[in-house]
Amino acid sequence: MDKIYYELLEQAKEASKKAYAKYSNFFVGACALFESGEKFCGCNIENASYGLTICAERVAISNAIANGEKSAIKAIAIYSPNQKLCFPCGACRQWLSEFATNDDIKIILEDENDIKVQTLKELFPCGFKLND
Ligand code: THU
Repeated sequence: MDKIYYELLEQAKEASKKAYAKYSNFFVGACALFESGEKFCGCNIENASYGLTICAERVAISNAIANGEKSAIKAIAIYSPNQKLCFPCGACRQWLSEFATNDDIKIILEDENDIKVQTLKELFPCGFKLND
């Protein structure tokens, strides 16, 4: 398996330690790799008004955009100490599709003994796109 996937997962693990998850106690970290070679991390940030909570994946992407990243996402690792195979929620899949040039981007998850690599195509077929 590609060494970079393990590195991304390691960074996602570090990011999960920063989660602000006082309501669910469900900690999530994400680390996104862009075509430029840059990596950006994020953690989930909860809110007393529960619906305002933002997921780790969207924080990682926001972090990238706010730091001037212009290239497309290549891969993203998602990690939770609470749960193996912490799949991205539907909203995050839509966000990933926004910043990917194709749906072959890799989604890396921690599995029982190793890592699982899936594509956005597998997890999010027929995503919404505006006409060009
Ligand atoms: N969460 C994420 O950070 N990413 C996901 O893809 C799913 C859920 C967070 C949101 C909330 O803080 C906690 O996990 C429990 O839902």
